[in-house]
Amino acid sequence: MSVHKEIRKVTTHRLSEMKLRGEKIAMLTSYDFSMAQLVDEAGVDVILVGDSASNVMAGHATTLPITLNEMIYHGASVVRAVTRALVVVDLPFGTYQGNSREALGSAIRIMKETAADAVKLEGGEEVIESVKRILSAGIPVMGHLGLMPQSIHKFGTYTVRAKEEAEAEKLINDAKLLEDVGCFAVVLEKIPADLGEKVAKELKIPVIGIGAGDKVDGQVLVIHDMLGITQQFSPRFLRRYHNLAAEIKGAVGNYINDVKSLDFPNEKEQY
Ligand code: KIV
Repeated sequence: MSVHKEIRKVTTHRLSEMKLRGEKIAMLTSYDFSMAQLVDEAGVDVILVGDSASNVMAGHATTLPITLNEMIYHGASVVRAVTRALVVVDLPFGTYQGNSREALGSAIRIMKETAADAVKLEGGEEVIESVKRILSAGIPVMGHLGLMPQSIHKFGTYTVRAKEEAEAEKLINDAKLLEDVGCFAVVLEKIPADLGEKVAKELKIPVIGIGAGDKVDGQVLVIHDMLGITQQFSPRFLRRYHNLAAEIKGAVGNYINDVKSLDFPNEKEQY
């Protein structure tokens, strides 16, 4: 008998089973090997290689500039570290909206060059031909509705979406459409909690929220935000589980002092 505990990989099927039995899905972003290894070992169900890498890794003001090659670099780094979680990679802005052929080409590059389990893209009816074509190639797709950061220049602000009835109705229709064509899950970002609850109740596929209330089927946060590495970003939906910025600055400060005071390296730390 093997002494090693077998790791059961999370699949899209397991996520729908979790919804059926009422077990909440825990999802976090990661963009590099070392962080993804820690996040996976801690037991998160889904790792999203989000295009938020554009902000937290590259320092851009929006998610728009990140390229397909850059997403593939981050995705492949994460996949190399992960043994259990389902890994989803974002299709970046400009790689799927043009036409469905281009969308399929982008999704295929992600799947081939990263070995991820699925892709995510933003939008409903407007991008449905792209979603269908990607699905037809056997690539699992996660939708993303509500606040869609790739459309920030259309919306003009990062405030709560779908507060008005017409926008809420469109969001519900889009979510149903994404389910009908075969998406395995949908992310809802920054919408009223009662709308999140309604969508989660109406859909059979899991609904993962970020600022969509407590009645959806799971939650997602950006790892740099929840660990307190990013400091300026403080939306109401964000719970900070650590103040890693202070810890890192403290440790780096100690290192600087030790170098300058000739305390580091000591005799045992050299050859
Ligand atoms: O890019 C990202 O990190 C995301 C999450 C905010 C859901 O899309």
